[in-house]
This record gives sequence, structure tokens and C-alpha cells, in this order.
Amino acid sequence: MPSSAAPGTNIALVKYWGKRDPVLNLPAAGSLSLTLADFGCETTVRFAPDAAAAEGCDRVLFGGEPADSHFAGRVQRFLDRVRDRAGINLPAEVVTRNTVPTAAGLASSAAGFAALALAASRAAGLRLLPTELSALARQGSGSAARSIFGGFVEMSAGTRADGSDAVARQLADESAWDVRLGVAITAAGEKAIGSTAAMDATARTSPYYPAWLASVPGDLDEARAAIRDRDLVRLGTVAERSATRMHACALAADPHILYWNPATLAAIATVKELRRGGTAVYFTVDAGPHVKVLCAAADVLRVEAALAATPGVVRFLVLAPGPGAHLKNEV
Ligand code: DP6
Repeated sequence: MPSSAAPGTNIALVKYWGKRDPVLNLPAAGSLSLTLADFGCETTVRFAPDAAAAEGCDRVLFGGEPADSHFAGRVQRFLDRVRDRAGINLPAEVVTRNTVPTAAGLASSAAGFAALALAASRAAGLRLLPTELSALARQGSGSAARSIFGGFVEMSAGTRADGSDAVARQLADESAWDVRLGVAITAAGEKAIGSTAAMDATARTSPYYPAWLASVPGDLDEARAAIRDRDLVRLGTVAERSATRMHACALAADPHILYWNPATLAAIATVKELRRGGTAVYFTVDAGPHVKVLCAAADVLRVEAALAATPGVVRFLVLAPGPGAHLKNEV
């Protein structure tokens, strides 16, 4: 039976950047994020004898078109894990549609592999617990493990070699704190280097990588406490620090990895200007040039007006915290 899932993406406030095992896709350090509503990926999966695109090849449609071979290969390898686990040997048809600009540093792989984990496991007849789904989603993309849960979510690096403890858990649900996540889109098009390749290059060549990893546990403690106390200043401060350290570490790779453009810096300047004017708003940047901002719901119109008017910002989106991945329908 086909199954559909449409989870929201998530934005990391304490960043994941580096792996302890590339095969099982185990993170080298923990991370912490906010899952967002209505800004992700819708995916339907069915396993059936007639589903193959060609002999031994799953059919993967992305936005109505056959997916490129890189993406289709990544999906097929992920589906192989699901087939192994479910003990089935049928080809699959995957119909997926992003509601977020693809590969633009808006963490679309997070929603994509969370959707695929839920829809494919259910279509294969498995009923996995949220923790098991998180471990499965992680094998597609590390950040996807977090989109299984709603609201504020912490991902553990884990210590076990099999990765069974490298899973996410919810810290506070989507209704716990009335914050907003704004996205200042600063450029069109695909990012220069994908996060998987960039974090691998950073780990291999950046002399700052050990210092980056050493800084993460303290940032996680700080962010957890800030969420517990609903302390936006404390959470925003640690989020900015985590993002700037992640980018500093990548910038020190050889050759350097630089995601920012002039509009990224202009948007950051606007955030700091808003703060000087008394608005509690904080930035974070992922593997792309866009600037995400965290603020109270009550301040979001002022923040939107300032960022939308910043030179180089082509669009500003406002997103609320959202629930974890759930099935849309079961036909
Ligand atoms: C900057 O989850 O895309 O968004 O596990 O290799 O698929 P893979 O990486 P991915 O990396 C996300 C990097 C980030 C930070 C974060 O989301 O924590």
C-alpha cells in the first residue's frame, strides 16, 4: 500500500558539522534544532512489481520529473535498507516534491529523508517507533533524524559503533514556546558545495576541526538550559556562536569553504542593528548563503520589515514551530 508523509524541515541552532562514521552516517557531535511547520517535503512511496523505472532500478520522481542519477542513487540505497529490514524484494516508486528551494542551504534533505523514512518504512509494512525512525532517517541525512520530532529537538552523537544511540529526541513540543524562524533568502540557485562533501573536507583539512568538536557539548548544555527557561537571549546567543564557529571551521579548510555572499553579511548587519534597537533577534546560517533568524512571535513583523528591506535579500519567509513527521494518508 502507498504511504505519504510530509514533515517540516528543521533549522539547527547548535550545528551538526562532521561525522564519526561516514558509512552509517553517524555524527561526530550532537546538535539541536527547531522543526518548522509547512515547509518541507511531501513524499509518497509504494513497493510493487510494476514500480521499477528499469530492471533493478526504483522509479524516483522529483517535482514531477525523473530525479537526477545522484539523487535517485541516494534514494535507492536508502530504500535498500528499508527492504532489508522489512524482508521484501520489491521495486519502489517514490514521488517527492519539495516545498522548500532544493539544495539552497535550506536543509531540504532534512525533511526529504524524514519523509522517506516514514513513508517507505510504512509502505514496506514496518511500524517503527519514533526513535527507530530517527535512526533510519539519519542514514539518509544526519539532519533528517531531527525532523522525525516536532518543536525543539536534540540529536545525540551516540557512542555505539552500530549507531543505535545516534538518534534524536524532543526537548519541547511545537506549542511550548511562541518563537518564529525567519529566512532571508539572499540568492537563487544551488549551493556551491553540498554539506556532506563540505563537512568531510572540513574534517580532513581544517586545523580548527578538533576545536569545533570540543565546543559542541558546552553549546548543547547552554541551548538545553535556555530552552528549559524559555530564555531567548541565551538561546539566540549560543545559536549565533555555533553558526559562526561552524563557518569559521569550514572557512579554514583547504581549499576554503565559504557559503556567505555580500547579502549574507548585510542581513547579519541588519540583525545586529535590530538588536541595538532593543529587539531580541539572532541569526544562524547553514550550508548556503541564506540567513535564518530567531525571534519572539510578537517581534516578527518588525524583523521582517527590516530584513526584507536589506539590500540583496530577495525574499523573507516567516515560519512557526511545527510537529514531527506523521503519515498524511494511508490508502
Ligand atoms: C549546516 O544533514 O545535510 O545544515 O548527514 O551528510 O546529509 P548529511 O548532512 P546534512 O548536514 C546539515 C548541515 C547543517 C547543520 C545542521 O543542520 O545541523
